[in-house]
Amino acid sequence: MSTLLVTGGMGFIGSNFVLYWLERHPEDRIMNYDALTYAGNPENTASVSGLPQYRFIRGDVADRMKVNEAFQEEKIDIVVHFAAESHVDRSIADPQSFVRANVLGTQTLLEAARTHGVSKFIQVSTDEVYGTLGSAGLFTETTPLAPNSPYSASKAGADFLARAYYETFGMPVVITRCSNNYGPYQYPEKLIPTIITRALRDEPVPVYGDGLNVRDWLYVQDHCSAIERVIRQGRPGQVYNVGGGSERTNLQIARHILAELGKPDRLLQFVADRPGHDRRYAIDSGKIQRELGWRPQCTLDQGLKRTVEWYLHHEAWWSKLPGSRPNSASQRTNGGDGG
Ligand SMILES: NC(=O)c1ccc[n+]([C@@H]2O[C@H](COP(=O)([O-])OP(=O)(O)OC[C@H]3O[C@@H](n4cnc5c(N)ncnc54)[C@H](O)[C@@H]3O)[C@@H](O)[C@H]2O)c1
Repeated sequence: MSTLLVTGGMGFIGSNFVLYWLERHPEDRIMNYDALTYAGNPENTASVSGLPQYRFIRGDVADRMKVNEAFQEEKIDIVVHFAAESHVDRSIADPQSFVRANVLGTQTLLEAARTHGVSKFIQVSTDEVYGTLGSAGLFTETTPLAPNSPYSASKAGADFLARAYYETFGMPVVITRCSNNYGPYQYPEKLIPTIITRALRDEPVPVYGDGLNVRDWLYVQDHCSAIERVIRQGRPGQVYNVGGGSERTNLQIARHILAELGKPDRLLQFVADRPGHDRRYAIDSGKIQRELGWRPQCTLDQGLKRTVEWYLHHEAWWSKLPGSRPNSASQRTNGGDGG
């Protein structure tokens, strides 16, 4: 039996991970530590909130006292660190809040984990730290970091601190760098839920620039299974890239979803491009496949079908979130990790 401290477990990937883990490892305990920012939603984990092996603590990862209190309350074996500000457009509007949450927050958590001793610390990072690619090539774990947005720069800063805690203090830190995720419980400011929720309401679907920015897409459960492998077998001090091998332009994704919903392409609305918008991300996940035997299980077609179905059946979840309203700030978005 292990006790996991999952930070950001009320957000998109974190909540999927909490549900994934408790279903497969009911003998383990999970302490979900989350500040409940606009992106954190307790409804995401409502189905496990009554389980004795689950508990929620509301707290900021950059709050040293609160983080230490959490570590003092229970012996933590494994930290899975998802908590972050994650939306690129918000990082352009307010870079400092990203430095606080993502850089200071990660260092605060690393320090508490070092003081209290953990057997593994997973720093959940992103392919965006590598910057942008031309029309060919893939990011590998040795690609130099060249972040282009305040969001990706703050994630790169967090990754460097995680690495330093391994090199300097010998902490068992492993970093994962994943491509764009999609699936249930994704906040409707990100590309795929933006397209689905706007199309369902027959509203314009905003697409940045020419729509030809390329992203590699991974169904969120496949990201969870990659982290599971890394928890079990990942080597401390290592970086593992995680990708779906499903590169598509944003326009292809938008057209695919409109077709899935039986909506016309005329809903597409091209809007001014985002400053510093990375053109292409593509990831080589050969290392995690070779070393840890991980493979994505869900194709993009299957994943998009499941995701569209989920949003169709969970209107009560998304319709009240500010990002799903027309004319909100996120109408001009389609950005960040997850799009
Ligand atoms: N979404 C993607 O496609 C993607 C891809 C690769 C990596 N990632 C990384 O995965 C992690 C989770 O991403 P997501 O898309 O689920 O994000 P999200 O924005 O949906 O959720 C973030 C969660 O963290 C919480 N949080 C934010 N700041 C906090 C703080 N200071 N203290 C405590 N909790 C805080 C929020 O309340 C929310 O529950 C992030 O670290 C992100 O960089 C995301």
